[in-house]
Amino acid sequence: MTDQPATKPQTANAMWGGRFAAGPDAIMEAINASIGFDKRLYAQDIAGSRAHAAMLAAQGVISTSDAEAIREGLLTVLSEIETGDFPFSTALEDIHMNVESRLKEIIGEPAGRLHTARSRNDQVATDFRLWVRDQTDAAIEGIEALQRAFLAQAEQGADWVMPGFTHLQTAQPVTWGHHMMAYVEMLGRDAARFRDARNRMNECPLGAAALAGTSFPIDRHMTAAALGFDRPAANSLDAVADRDFALEFLSAASICAMHLSRFAEELVIWSSAQFRFVRLSDRFSTGSSIMPQKRNPDAAELLRAKIARILGATVALFTMMKGLPLTYSKDMQEDKEQVFDAADTLMLSLAAMTGMVKDMTANVAVLRTAAASGFSTATDLADWLVRTLGLPFREAHHVTGSLVALAEKKGCDLPDLTLQDMQSVHPGITDAVFTVLGVDNSVASRMSYGGTAPAQVRAQIARWREILG
Ligand code: ARG
Repeated sequence: MTDQPATKPQTANAMWGGRFAAGPDAIMEAINASIGFDKRLYAQDIAGSRAHAAMLAAQGVISTSDAEAIREGLLTVLSEIETGDFPFSTALEDIHMNVESRLKEIIGEPAGRLHTARSRNDQVATDFRLWVRDQTDAAIEGIEALQRAFLAQAEQGADWVMPGFTHLQTAQPVTWGHHMMAYVEMLGRDAARFRDARNRMNECPLGAAALAGTSFPIDRHMTAAALGFDRPAANSLDAVADRDFALEFLSAASICAMHLSRFAEELVIWSSAQFRFVRLSDRFSTGSSIMPQKRNPDAAELLRAKIARILGATVALFTMMKGLPLTYSKDMQEDKEQVFDAADTLMLSLAAMTGMVKDMTANVAVLRTAAASGFSTATDLADWLVRTLGLPFREAHHVTGSLVALAEKKGCDLPDLTLQDMQSVHPGITDAVFTVLGVDNSVASRMSYGGTAPAQVRAQIARWREILG
């Protein structure tokens, strides 16, 4: 073991040290302080304090002149922080006490009245909700920008034919537009999850005080409205103990990042020399320091990985919250870094994916050739046998299987078989069968609602254009 750092001789904490003779050990201070990260809540903290002070004055709990001094002082603090002139102090633990202590230096005695009818417990719950609410709005914006990028790709290639896969094996021809629109749907659900979480999180904890409410005649509806909340939280214990809003944010972020990871994986595959389905732009590719020919899809690979961080944060917060007795426990201070990191990661991921999707170019000819290979129209052939010859689907499936085997043996694709080849397997087959073996016919025929036919894809594009405005 290394030596312990020397115990710091220090006086008791100015904010809560009334009953303490000595200050905290340096190690205690190091484990206790959150200012290193929760300074990111400064704007929310100051907004919450301004709303609280205005309400206290309106209710006659503090004088209007004190409230005015507090308001002015908080604006000074805000500008000091924004210009980088604010003296953050670890001894003052967190953003709440850093702001209040500086306010005291600036305006003197009235600063001490700000904490009436309030606790750091409802304060941090309020600040953090406000912060997560902003990030939720930003996530929705980022998601919609990405949806627009996918929509533009879909519009361009509504009828470009490409292979659709199951098990990463060629399954049936689909359209590029259809594939792009699959992500528009996923992202639509992601945005809806954030909107839904926002509605639920928009209740104000301020005024719950430490846990039990307060004996002062506060107006919680006033502070809630001033901070843009729909209503005050209805139970003071729940108000300070709840971190569902953060968990819902992280859960929605995890699902969204999982979607990004899936498309990232497709980009890695599609941009490989073996596939060549897409070319990523120079702006979103990197080179190799040793192999001059390389164009690496680094951004896509990183996006494929980012879900790990976001889901990690989600698991961390769930694990941290489970088993905590009501109400506030200091464990909950550990919520912030996880959420900060997850939010930053999600925003960067959305921006990077949007850039890649905007810039990427599909290799239309390669997509088309790939769509036609691998007996991709076998289902169309089976369907034709059902429709035209009246075979039960199971039998049609069997006949088609034999035709695929024959084509494989001859080293050709289904449309290359002769009519005689076809009739050797089933004598009822006629020339008309060849019309359904082409990839364009194949996709155009899939007119069922939500199917891959260009007409269906265009209908979905129009619907989403309407939704996204
Ligand atoms: N820094 C603390 C946190 O982030 C603020 C709340 C502290 N409350 C308390 N009673 N110690 O959770």
